[in-house]
Amino acid sequence: MVVTGGAGGIGAALCRRFAREGAKAVVCADIDGDGANRLADEIGHTAFRCDAARESDIVNLIDYTEQTIGPIDLFCSNAGIMVKGGVEVQNDDWQRIWEVNVMSHVYAARALVDRMANRGGGCFVITASAAGLLSQIGSTPYSVTKHAAVGLAENLAITYGEKNIRVSVICPQAVATAMTREGGGVAAVDGLIEADKVADDAIEGIAQERFLILPHPEVAEYMRRKTADYDRWLSGMRRLQRRFL
Ligand SMILES: NC(=O)c1ccc[n+]([C@@H]2O[C@H](COP(=O)([O-])OP(=O)(O)OC[C@H]3O[C@@H](n4cnc5c(N)ncnc54)[C@H](O)[C@@H]3O)[C@@H](O)[C@H]2O)c1
Repeated sequence: MVVTGGAGGIGAALCRRFAREGAKAVVCADIDGDGANRLADEIGHTAFRCDAARESDIVNLIDYTEQTIGPIDLFCSNAGIMVKGGVEVQNDDWQRIWEVNVMSHVYAARALVDRMANRGGGCFVITASAAGLLSQIGSTPYSVTKHAAVGLAENLAITYGEKNIRVSVICPQAVATAMTREGGGVAAVDGLIEADKVADDAIEGIAQERFLILPHPEVAEYMRRKTADYDRWLSGMRRLQRRFL
C-alpha cells in the first residue's frame, strides 16, 4: 500500500498502523524525502520522494511501486496543505492548494484506478476533511478544495463501484499535527484528536468498506443539520465565526 504525505501527521500514523497490521509493503511517499526515509527506516518499509501535486511524480511513484514491489491494492491519497485567508488569497496560492488538495488525487486515480479494476479491484482512499462536508471558517481555499476532494471521492465511488474499486474519504475535524501547530482554530471546537485515532478509524472504515470515515462523529450530526435547513446552519456557522474570529 502507498501513502502520500506519509512522512508526517496523519500520513505517518497511517504508515505506522498499516505496518503494524502486517501490510506486505508500505510505501511512504512525501515531498520531504528525508522525512519519508526516516519514517520508512522506523517501520522497516520503503520511502519514495514525491511531490503529489506533480503528475509525473505520482506516475513514477505508482510505476516504481508496481514494478519493484507488486500491484498496489490500497492507495491513500493523503497529502494536503492549508492556506489561510479568503478570496483575497493570491492566485499562485489558490493554484498551489488546488494542485495539492485536489489534482494530486486526480493524478493518482487516473494512473491507478483502471489498473486496479482490470486486476479485479482495489481500494482508493482520499484524506479530505470535515471542511469538505461543512466549511472551514478562516480559510476559503481550504474549504473549496476539500469540497472538491469530497466531490471527487463521491464520483469515483459511483463510477468505479461496480468495478470493485472501494473508495473511502476520511473527513476529520482538527487533528494534532504540524498543520494545526497553532491550535486548530475553529476546527478544534470538538477537540484536537491524535493522528493515531484517525489511522485507527481509517483502518476500521476501510475494512468495513465504508465510504465516509468520520473520526469526529459529531460531523455526521452537523451534516444532517446542514441538509435539513441550510439557512439555519449558515446562521449557526456565522455565530461560531463571531466566537472565534
Ligand atoms: N491536521 C488536521 O487538523 C486535519 C484535519 C482534516 C484533514 N486533514 C488533512 O489530512 C491530510 C494530512 O494532513 P496532516 O495534518 O497530517 O498534515 P501535516 O502537515 O502534518 O503532514 C502533511 C505531510 O504531507 C507532506 N506534503 C505536503 N505537501 C506535499 C506534496 N505536494 N506532495 C507530497 N507530500 C506533501 C508534508 O511534507 C507532510 O509530511 C491533509 O490532506 C489535510 O488537509 C488534516
